[in-house]
Amino acid sequence: MCGIVGYVGSKEATPVLINGLKKLEYRGYDSAGIAVLSESADEILVRKSKGALKFLEAKIADEVIKGSVGIGHTRWATHGEPSDLNSHPHTNVSGTIAVVHNGIIENYAKLKAWLQDQGIVFRSQTDTEVIAHLINYFYEKSGELFKAVLETLHKLEGSYALGVVCTKYPDRLIAARKESPLIVGLGKDENFIASDVPAVLEYTRDVYYLDQKEIAVLYSDHVDLFNEDGEKIHKEPSHVEWDLSSAEKDGYAHFMLKEIHEQPKVLDATIKAHVVYDEKKNPVDLTFSKEIESDRINEMIQNAKRIVITACGTSYHAGMVGKYAFEKFARIPTVVDVASEFRYRNPILNKDDVFIVISQSGETADTLAAMRLAKENGAKVIAITNVVGSTVSREADFVIYTLAGPEIAVASTKAYTTQLACLYMISMMFGYKNGKLPEAEYKKLLNELIKIPELSQKILENQEDVQKFASRQFNKSKIFYIGRQFDSASSLESALKLKEVSYMHCEAFAAGELKHGPIALIDNDTLVVAIATCPELYEKLVSNIVEVKSRGATTMCITQNKAEMSKACDEILEIPETDSTLESILSIIPAQLFAYYCSVQKGIDPDKPRNLAKSVTVE
Ligand code: AGP
Ligand code: GLU
Repeated sequence: MCGIVGYVGSKEATPVLINGLKKLEYRGYDSAGIAVLSESADEILVRKSKGALKFLEAKIADEVIKGSVGIGHTRWATHGEPSDLNSHPHTNVSGTIAVVHNGIIENYAKLKAWLQDQGIVFRSQTDTEVIAHLINYFYEKSGELFKAVLETLHKLEGSYALGVVCTKYPDRLIAARKESPLIVGLGKDENFIASDVPAVLEYTRDVYYLDQKEIAVLYSDHVDLFNEDGEKIHKEPSHVEWDLSSAEKDGYAHFMLKEIHEQPKVLDATIKAHVVYDEKKNPVDLTFSKEIESDRINEMIQNAKRIVITACGTSYHAGMVGKYAFEKFARIPTVVDVASEFRYRNPILNKDDVFIVISQSGETADTLAAMRLAKENGAKVIAITNVVGSTVSREADFVIYTLAGPEIAVASTKAYTTQLACLYMISMMFGYKNGKLPEAEYKKLLNELIKIPELSQKILENQEDVQKFASRQFNKSKIFYIGRQFDSASSLESALKLKEVSYMHCEAFAAGELKHGPIALIDNDTLVVAIATCPELYEKLVSNIVEVKSRGATTMCITQNKAEMSKACDEILEIPETDSTLESILSIIPAQLFAYYCSVQKGIDPDKPRNLAKSVTVE
């Protein structure tokens, strides 16, 4: 959510800033702006505009903004409407200090009132503006910018990633973070800050992932790092292994479609990272030894009385599938909680609970808060995340990575299926090691698991069927996904995908719940999509389909058993057969494609749906 870019070097800063902001557009934003220190360093040139980055570009198209130190921002408004005035950067009254900020200053009202008492007249409605005035206030007292920033940070409550420039210090840029993500890119005679790696990847692969409350002072030839007390610290830079092409569209019309199509490859990578083969190349076991020491994991498995999974959105839905998997394979009671609920519930945690957080970005504010709460309560946390260096990855006790590569589209697709792969693998291993999943069954499952990437490819080869189906259904007024067990979790995720990118009114129900109320909504402008992968429940689901059909709904079924389900459904999208418990990785793919094609049919940009941001780093 929101993007920050900053540059200190010898190039013109403006194109670097605009370019970097473009790479962060996927995060979602409602306005954009830049501040560049003029060449003579006597002023800060601030340009900002409500709306897309192209409006800012148009605004500055006819002028040459010269200067090689600057900060840029795409804003996701939290305080004050999206407008030119509320866009960042914000400055102090005399315009000598400029600030970009991502996050929320929770005590801004108090700080604002106090600054107003000092005679400061505010120009925007943002919480951010207090930061510029506070830095100025402390600067006037000490005459030292770093000290002024430090004192300001000590006054701030809430979350921030910050970039600060000042005319009095034209050789540097100060950055700091708490909760909201920020990285420092290390170039040759130039350095950068950014909310995410793609913004700097064109220039460097060496980055510092700033930790909580760390501060960086960037010069063109070096970067100094400090802790929250202003003491110098040392840390090793990380080297980014993936390249920009994996963050670009590769000829696909949209990132979402590209990412849907990447699933066979990334599932393969994620699964292969853990499967152990015998000398005849048969999969015989799973290992997480790189992530969790074997003693520790054995102890965890033997003692596990309960699994507690916490996450948000799509990652939460992965957790729901995880619940069925843990209960089926390992027979361990599993609770799944939305992180925003968990964190405020004074949750009951026991020492034998295994706590799992799931987060693609590793930066979701609620998930982070839930994880910290669990840790405070003594839980050991296993994190499943996609982003190396993310806050979740740094704070969890054990980290299992989904090897999905950068996910740019706002709607999560490949991160979800790789999360499922991880959850299946962990739960299978728990089951095998605690004796609840017999060896023969474990090996059979492993054999099926390694074939999943290839099977997912087969679904993608038939994407035209989904495209045609979408072109007939995209103007339905209501869409419901229904399913039972694993399929009820998949229904939730399928409905979320459709809502996110097509804005169609779509809900998901456990099929057995229909009769308890939702069936009243069914009429002949309704599409009901049933997900049917649990053979033991086909019959029950068929009854549900007949019920909605007889009330006028059009029905479609995503299933591996065409013969059985076509008895009741108007249309079938067939998925390849595998062990029914693993089908959730496959059954979601037609639903992702359906959401994508409905979005395109409606002329929506599926990569940047309205009101949504990729990474929800504020509550
Ligand atoms: C998915 O399509 C979403 N846009 C959203 O629900 C997302 O899954 C959620 O915000 C959690 O994000 P995370 O996995 O990065 O923590
Ligand atoms: N809270 C700030 C504002 O509303 C920053 C929002 C953001 O993260 O973009 O301006």
